[in-house]
Amino acid sequence: MKRSIIITGGAGFIGSHVVRLFVNKYPEYKIINLDKLTYAGNLANLKDIEDKPNYKFVKMDICDFEGVLKLMQEEHVDGIIHLAAESHVDRSIKDPFTFAQTNVMGTLSLLQAAKACWEGNYEGKRFYHISTDEVYGALEMTHPEGIEPPFTTKASSGEHHLAYGEKFFTEDLKYQPHSPYSAAKASSDHFVRAFHDTFGLPTIVTNCSNNYGPYQFPEKLIPLFINNIRHRKPLPVYGKGENVRDWLYVEDHARAIDTIFHNGKIAETYNIGGFNEWKNIDIIKVLIHTTDRLLGRKEGEDMDLITYVTDRAGHDLRYAIDSSKLKRELGWEPSLQFEEGIEKTVRWYLDNQDWLDNVTSGDYQKYYENMYKGR
Ligand code: NAD
Ligand code: TYD
Repeated sequence: MKRSIIITGGAGFIGSHVVRLFVNKYPEYKIINLDKLTYAGNLANLKDIEDKPNYKFVKMDICDFEGVLKLMQEEHVDGIIHLAAESHVDRSIKDPFTFAQTNVMGTLSLLQAAKACWEGNYEGKRFYHISTDEVYGALEMTHPEGIEPPFTTKASSGEHHLAYGEKFFTEDLKYQPHSPYSAAKASSDHFVRAFHDTFGLPTIVTNCSNNYGPYQFPEKLIPLFINNIRHRKPLPVYGKGENVRDWLYVEDHARAIDTIFHNGKIAETYNIGGFNEWKNIDIIKVLIHTTDRLLGRKEGEDMDLITYVTDRAGHDLRYAIDSSKLKRELGWEPSLQFEEGIEKTVRWYLDNQDWLDNVTSGDYQKYYENMYKGR
């Protein structure tokens, strides 16, 4: 095998798309999916590639330093793409300890294992840490006098984009995380940089905006709401639904990860985003219209499911990524228009009700744990 790469969190939402892309695109690489299979990990996400000769699944906790080190040595691992994490802000508000454990201690354990395995020979090695734009905190919704948002404003490249504020997250911004989730991710990013600066570990960090697409656990806005619209359950909109997120189709994120893993510069940070800002309430309306239409209902008839509920504690107002650096230096751009991505996504969840039922029932975890016992 030309390369041997561990992808952590490969059974999760984004990780499964990255594993699929690498396994299919690089038959000459060995791809090892290292995942603990928490509630968010689901091997059914990878059914189509699980029998490929260049793919291997290992059930392991990233916090298991000895286990990771042994695996790296046995498999002659020369690259790590690290996605394993606790990823849901609402859960982090209820249980911050688990977030510190997995996102901070888990990342540290991987860094230590990579250092122990590669020390003295960092040539050709790569530790690529996947992070979030939420580490930068929240942006304001400032806008030029008299102009209704979204309005056109300039990114650092000089290009104009539709936005809800004049500022974007750029790579040089100070970290200002607000939620326990983003604080834990920020901390892990700092550890990754510290391992480069202190030990010379060849690291890269990327910070991406909100992802959407197939295989996302239905606790996050888009899959939760599609499922609720289908079953005519209330749609719990936090606050007034005015918060803004920047949405990127998950396969575009996976393509960016591929580009950066192969061509990104060591010690660099790259922001990944789609210049695609939406107010929650507007996305929700698009979801209702699209779901109704695809189900043969009258478009918009489920608008009355919208239910305004108490706001999330510390709810960040606006995220907006400036990904000009990635475009300028490595030529990456999102490939999908949002309307197209949403249509594909709604269709996928409607066509895959079994997947949704399984992940919400928890049966899938038992099934796959038994299947992989002793492998
Ligand atoms: P996810 O919650 O869908 O999946 C996380 C995966 O990590 C699961 O398969 C889970 O089993 C695994 N995992 C959790 N704890 C583990 C542990 N201790 N050891 C081994 N495996 C463990 O998450 P996601 O949405 O796919 O996010 C993946 C990564 O991308 C995360 O690091 C997240 O911070 C980052 N990110 C996500 C988004 C987004 O919109 N979802 C945006 C930017 C960055
Ligand atoms: P989410 O998908 O949890 O991603 P993040 O918090 O990481 O951005 O939420 C996206 C937005 O949708 C966020 O502003 C919170 C809001 N939201 C709701 O209004 N209701 C919900 O039930 C959920 C899960 C999210």
